Amino acid sequence: MPEKVLVTGGAGYIGSHACKALARAGHIPVTFDNFSTGWRDAVRFGPMVEGDLLDRGALDAAFEKHRPDAVMHFAALSQVGEAVREPGLYWRVNVGGSLNLIEAALAAGVKRFVFSSTCATYGDQDGVVLTEDTPQAPLNAYGASKRAIEDMLADFAVSDGLESVIFRYFNVAGADPEGEVGEHHQPETHLIPLILDAVDGRRPALTINGTDYPTADGTCIRDYVHVMDLVEAHVAGLDWLRAGKGSRVFCLGTGTGFSVREVVAETRHVTNRTVPMQDGPRRPGDAVTLVCGSERARTELGWQADRSTMAQMIADAWRWHQNGHYDR
Ligand code: UFG
Repeated sequence: MPEKVLVTGGAGYIGSHACKALARAGHIPVTFDNFSTGWRDAVRFGPMVEGDLLDRGALDAAFEKHRPDAVMHFAALSQVGEAVREPGLYWRVNVGGSLNLIEAALAAGVKRFVFSSTCATYGDQDGVVLTEDTPQAPLNAYGASKRAIEDMLADFAVSDGLESVIFRYFNVAGADPEGEVGEHHQPETHLIPLILDAVDGRRPALTINGTDYPTADGTCIRDYVHVMDLVEAHVAGLDWLRAGKGSRVFCLGTGTGFSVREVVAETRHVTNRTVPMQDGPRRPGDAVTLVCGSERARTELGWQADRSTMAQMIADAWRWHQNGHYDR
């Protein structure tokens, strides 16, 4: 049975790929986006509602008009550096917006909710491989705001029977290999697109954010997951809730970490170009190492991160970087 899914942030990087995966699985994604960071061009797979999560009236109208069966909630501010500088923004937009969304969903009788959370809720954990049971201790307002939303979902489960699948993502990378959608942030802060900008001269050089971390080569380690694999997990999460399996948290990563220098080296290899770069200071709010095991997603959801090799992620990102673009 096709489901209608209200996808907040459907015009953004991960949301747009999720809409494609939903449409491919026979569902109808209804994008709800304020286009503060998303792109109209990225909404290609279903209807679009322009609206803001802080506007409860706009949310109520969207539920009334489209009558979705479930919600996938991607819309959020998501830059660690900005969150350190302006925490109020993160508490207001991420937490306040999510509260409006949950209450509007419940008022419309929608009780199935897939939520985009983050490994930034863990903070620095001394290099251990993280699991769903690792205690959360966010280092910045971005991670703290996402953890607060996780807590909120648990409270509304008790009060109203809201059922949620929470995905804690690690570093999402790559692009739709068919090139319909891709990664386009303005400003760009993510490592792989910034390396590619340096490769093709759109920026003079990549700055490495800190080279004195306690890792083998002195740079931070992250667990990168292909956006197409990530969104497939969301479709499986929707099925999980539809099957009545109840609320659950899943980490989505590969269990393998790459340092910044290793990502640069792999990009050099995949593109066969040099990467102009310079060493820079640490970026406030960065954890040293974030790597997660995805045992639970694999065994319970049947999730396989088939595309999530570093070479594949860079190759797909590079193809989009060269050929794809959005106009607002
Ligand atoms: N980095 C650089 N130079 C740059 C950009 C990034 O060295 O120009 C480094 C960062 O300092 C970090 C690594 O590359 O060590 C990855 O940085 P990203 O900005 O690509 O990703 P983050 O790990 O900061 O952030 C990602 C997601 C967030 C998520 C966060 C958890 O974008 O949404 O992981 O920390 F919450």
